[in-house]
Amino acid sequence: MTKHYLVTGGSGFIGAALVRRLVRDGHKVRVFDDNSRGHPRRLGDVLEAVEFVNGDIRDAEAVAKAVRGVDGVLHLAAVNGTRHFYEKPEVVLDVGVRGMLNVLDACRAAGVGDLVVASSSEAYQTPPLVPTPEDVPLVVPDVQNARYSYGGSKLISELLAVNWGRTGFDRVAIFRPHNVYGPDMGWEHVVPEFVRRAVAAIDRTPRAPVPFPIQGDGGQTRAFVHIDDAIDGIVAVIERGAHLGIYHVGNPEEVTIADLARQVVTVLGREADIQAGPAAPGGTQRRCPDIARLMALGYLPRIPLSAGLPGVVDWYAARCRDAAPVAAE
Ligand SMILES: NC(=O)c1ccc[n+]([C@@H]2O[C@H](COP(=O)([O-])OP(=O)(O)OC[C@H]3O[C@@H](n4cnc5c(N)ncnc54)[C@H](O)[C@@H]3O)[C@@H](O)[C@H]2O)c1
Repeated sequence: MTKHYLVTGGSGFIGAALVRRLVRDGHKVRVFDDNSRGHPRRLGDVLEAVEFVNGDIRDAEAVAKAVRGVDGVLHLAAVNGTRHFYEKPEVVLDVGVRGMLNVLDACRAAGVGDLVVASSSEAYQTPPLVPTPEDVPLVVPDVQNARYSYGGSKLISELLAVNWGRTGFDRVAIFRPHNVYGPDMGWEHVVPEFVRRAVAAIDRTPRAPVPFPIQGDGGQTRAFVHIDDAIDGIVAVIERGAHLGIYHVGNPEEVTIADLARQVVTVLGREADIQAGPAAPGGTQRRCPDIARLMALGYLPRIPLSAGLPGVVDWYAARCRDAAPVAAE
């Protein structure tokens, strides 16, 4: 059955890919975004087919207006990008918490009973169990570390969504993406950042191997999911997610940061000399989702890192000249 959705954060990396998919699946879509990190161009050939509302998720009136008349709200607007967590933690929390409250209030006021909310793996920070199921405790390890403004805002958003969701909603579901990667995701993420640094290091090092400094010893792990798989997972939650259900969206293929760096440099045709450095405060040693719940909704990731990474590395490498200058390492 086709529906009318409001997608907040719909010109962002994941939001735009989701909007394109929803339009292709025959749904009517309204996008709400302030384009602070989003770009309508990401909507590509579906831009004409969507209604684009330029607004701030912190503006209760604007959100109330945007929610009116839709069947469901997919709430993705957030200040993403690790640098921002450190540089503007107040804004991260404001957008995360006030935005969530505005969306919940607007849905209730307009009688929109279907809401799907984007959370994050950062809501649980250092997991007690890897692969990590959805029911581990959500934590803010250090209130004074600005990094946790983001994970904290997601933790609060989950609390708000579940508890507001108990009344006045038919279905509120939450998904937690785990390290989504793909073309045009912005530069403040590990894969684009590695490509930018690898290209610069290759330019400086005509002969192999290419020196590649990393934070910590490189033994930290992450599990990266290609954007196409992530969208399949999110759509499974939208179509079949349970009321008050929480779902990890990811690919449980765990890779060390050192190995990821090596793979990026290899795609660029060279060999990497990984050089350990001081670890970032607040980093998590291992992260890998247990996706059994999402698989029970029919999801299966199809794109291993070895198949997804080359196209994404090439996309960023081709655009490195336009990116911000590489800081001295
Ligand atoms: N990319 C990932 O790997 C990842 C991982 C975990 C969680 N998430 C979550 O998924 C969602 C989408 O992430 P993304 O990677 O597409 O990030 P993104 O930054 O590309 O998209 C977020 C969008 O929200 C918009 N936005 C920011 N502040 C706003 C405001 N005040 N008012 C209206 N719009 C505003 C931005 O312009 C942007 O288009 C976010 O909620 C994010 O926290 C993403």
